[in-house]
Formats: sequence, C-alpha cells, structure tokens
Amino acid sequence: MKYSLQFRIWHWLNAIVVLGMLGTVFLRKTFLSWRTNSEILMTQLSQMQIEITAEEAKILAKAVRAGMWEWHIILGYALVFLIIYRIFLFISDSSEKEDFSSKTIHKKIVQISYYIIYAVLLFMAATGLIIHFYEELSLTKEFAKSLKEIHELVFYAIMFFTPLHIVGVIVADLTDEKGLISSMINGKKS
Ligand code: HEM
Ligand code: HEM
Repeated sequence: MKYSLQFRIWHWLNAIVVLGMLGTVFLRKTFLSWRTNSEILMTQLSQMQIEITAEEAKILAKAVRAGMWEWHIILGYALVFLIIYRIFLFISDSSEKEDFSSKTIHKKIVQISYYIIYAVLLFMAATGLIIHFYEELSLTKEFAKSLKEIHELVFYAIMFFTPLHIVGVIVADLTDEKGLISSMINGKKS
C-alpha cells in the first residue's frame, strides 16, 4: 500500500468531518437534548416564580440547541464535497493498492466494509440534503420526516464503523501491519 498525497488529505479531512458530525449528533442526543433541557428550564424558572408551559420550554430548549446543530449542516456540506472528491479519486488516483484477489480473507472483509461505508456516506449525504431542502424540493413535511427516520437509522452504521475502524487499524499497526497508520500520514509503503 502506498497512499498518494491527495488520498491522504481526503482520508484525514473525511475523518475530521465524520467525527465532527458524530459529535453534533452526540450533543443533540445528550447535553443539548430539548427533552432534558426543557425540563431543566421549567424547573429552574419555576423556582424563580416564572411559570412557562411545556410548549414554551420546548421552544427555548430548541433555540439553545440551534447554534450547535448548524454545524451538522455546515459539516454536511463539507461531507458532500468530500464525497465528490472521493468519486474523482476513484477515477484518477495514483495510490498503489493491493489487488483484491491477492488479499487475505480478513483484508477482503475489511475492503468490503470500506465499500459499505462509502455507500452509507453517500446515502447520508443524499438524504441529509433532501431533508434540509425539502421545501425547496416541494416535498411534504411527512416525507421529510420519514426520510429523517431512515437517515437516523442508517447513522448507526457509521456509529459502529468508526470506533471499529479506529481500533482495527491500531490493532493491525501493532501486529502484522506495522506502520499502517503512518503510511496514511506520510505516504510511505506499509
Ligand atoms: C481518527 C482515527 C483514524 C485513523 C487512525 C484511521 C486510519 C486509517 C488507516 C491506517 C487506513 C488504511 C487501512 C487499510 O489499508 O485497511 C484507513 C482507511 C480508511 N479510513 Fe480511516 N482512520 C481514522 C478515522 C476514520 C474515519 C472517522 C473515517 C470515516 C468514515 C475513516 C474512513 C476510512 C476509509 C473509508 C478508509 C478506506 C480507504 C480506501 O482504501 O478506500 N477513517 N484509515
Ligand atoms: C456522517 C454523516 C451523517 C450522520 C452520521 C448524520 C446523523 C444524523 C442523525 C442521527 C440525525 C437525527 C438527529 C435526531 O433527531 O436526534 C440527523 C438529522 C439530520 N441530518 Fe444528518 N447525518 C449525516 C449527514 C448529513 C448531511 C450530509 C446532511 C445535509 C447537509 C444532514 C442533514 C440533516 C438534517 C437536515 C437532519 C434533520 C434535523 C432536524 O430534524 O432538525 N445530515 N443526522
């Protein structure tokens, strides 16, 4: 394996963007969850003798979350560009890679998992863009909602792949593929 400079730049930018997107999802589902925060707001305000309805608390909690979630969309655009960049690399890249047929069973499975993750990333980018622009695309809110449910379900594939991939390359680097991670950094043969 010998990764070209373009490929390495793509890999690390993609890693940053995907980890960032996972970060926005993590925050949305934990510290910035509107369900938890609307309850906190209601309790705290009520201790200050200010009564607000659950509906109003929900509006406030969502407003607190909004600035953070903008990053899901900003990183989303970056992901769309990185996918286009990767398609371009599929056509013209000077990296030297082992032939699929000469790979061990284990490496064949790893390779297939990369193809699956490419398909998943493409799917996430396409559905994400459609949900974001559903009005401009004259789609109904119901359609956008059901698409969001699929987008959210497929997200779990990325959530499982990412730590598995990181642990996998670390184990490979420590055992029979010494220098694998640095080859993705310095482009030398591993
Ligand atoms: C931050 C920790 C990460 C490290 C140390 C790392 C390291 C590596 C290494 C060493 C390879 C080459 C492995 C091989 O030849 O089998 C690789 C490939 C790959 N990585 Fe990562 N990676 C990281 C994060 C990510 C993330 C977050 C993604 C997001 C999806 C990602 C996506 C990929 C893909 C798709 C490939 C296959 C490239 C190809 O040959 O087409 N990586 N990574
Ligand atoms: C690595 C890729 C991605 C992952 C892992 C991901 C994950 C998620 C998850 C889990 C949700 C549901 C959040 C919740 O309701 O709790 C979501 C919603 C959403 N995502 Fe993504 N997403 C990705 C890519 C994208 C892209 C590329 C875009 C568009 C540029 C996008 C736009 C959206 C939008 C508009 C929503 C709905 C937000 C709302 O209902 O307020 N996503 N995403």
